[in-house]
Amino acid sequence: MDFNLSEEQQMVKDMCRKFAENELAPKAEHYDRTHEFPWEHVKKLGEMGMMGVVYPEEYGGSGMDYLTYAIAVEEISRGCASTGVIVSAHNSLCLSPIYYFGTEEQKKKYLPKLCSGEWIGCFGITEPNAGSDAAGTKTVAEFKNGKWVLNGTKNFITNGGVANVAVVLAVTEKGIGHKGLSMFIVEKGTPGFSVGKTEDKLGICASSTTELVFENCEIPEENILGKKGDGFKIAMHTLDGGRVGIAAQALGIAQAAMDAAVKYSLERVQFNQPIARQQAIQWMIADMATEIQAARLLTYQAAMLIGSGPDRRRYSKNAAMAKLFASETSHRATHKALQIFGGYGYIKDYPAERFYRDSRITEIYEGTSEIQRLVIASNVLSEYQ
Ligand code: CAA
Repeated sequence: MDFNLSEEQQMVKDMCRKFAENELAPKAEHYDRTHEFPWEHVKKLGEMGMMGVVYPEEYGGSGMDYLTYAIAVEEISRGCASTGVIVSAHNSLCLSPIYYFGTEEQKKKYLPKLCSGEWIGCFGITEPNAGSDAAGTKTVAEFKNGKWVLNGTKNFITNGGVANVAVVLAVTEKGIGHKGLSMFIVEKGTPGFSVGKTEDKLGICASSTTELVFENCEIPEENILGKKGDGFKIAMHTLDGGRVGIAAQALGIAQAAMDAAVKYSLERVQFNQPIARQQAIQWMIADMATEIQAARLLTYQAAMLIGSGPDRRRYSKNAAMAKLFASETSHRATHKALQIFGGYGYIKDYPAERFYRDSRITEIYEGTSEIQRLVIASNVLSEYQ
């Protein structure tokens, strides 16, 4: 295995790290406190080509590979976890299904504006009663008078309040489970489509998490994505990619927490010496460094397995392993980092508590850790049967 980054991957890593250190990290506390959406950062990331990392240049994308994308999300999240998920949800959950399952007209219509960051995208599958059980979707899309008419409510939608385009899962045929689900593209401003409640969250406070409400929302026939009945598979395919993005986000948060804790441990003097000289602290640093490196290898491997085209090799197991391990690593690393900061870790003057809060969601969205274990186990079991 070649662990060296290509020239392009290294260039993007350096560029995103510089941006994270100079622009994201210094303002992360402000955006966390105010819950403002970081428009200035998203605009710049669009200019840097990070709002359409893997999509071909003919659609306005940067035409890079998925490892470069994972590295970019990791570095961005190291500076600001909210910005990390904004980029990840936009790239992985909105652009990806349009690129892989959209018609040529849909791609030409939506991808350039999304890739440039002029438009922001979101992905609506979760509903109040359909979280882990994504096939339990209740939002309906009925075909009437040549149009699809959507009714229902999605919730916990990342980028929901700021998105110009939503990719939405709805029931088109009742009583046949996941085979009766289809995916649709809905544009902001369509009558009957509104943004509902904005969630007040524990972490990633600068990212917009809202309800999407559809009340007799009429969309053109051609806004179906893929074929009728393919919605669930499009959702699962999309989430496979999204989980690699969240693994990278978790990794970035964990790395930021470790960076801060190690620096603090070298400066903080107790018992007449920096606390970094204490073995108890060194063991925590060793565990953080080792687990972060293992999470990075799993995440990069999953990213590298993503091929191109709808028939790309299934890498669900690897994506689930990366997301599971990186998010739980992030949980443990941010916990230890806060512990190293002691009382200062518990107050908002230092970033340790923000890392701790931000990391928690990575174990929940785009499939809880329990769902990742389920995906991993079903793949492993099928390998033995
Ligand atoms: N790719 C393509 N097809 C897939 C697939 C994949 N990864 N996984 C399953 N499928 C197909 C199966 O082959 C099967 O097809 P057939 O009927 O033709 O055989 C079909 O989908 C149904 O598969 P399952 O029986 O395995 O489906 P299930 O109902 O048991 O659910 C699940 C499986 C893994 C639990 C799934 O529901 C799941 O992933 N749940 C979690 C949902 C989730 O991650 N939600 C996150 C919301 S998005 C979010 O958080 C975004 C955000 O804002 C940041």
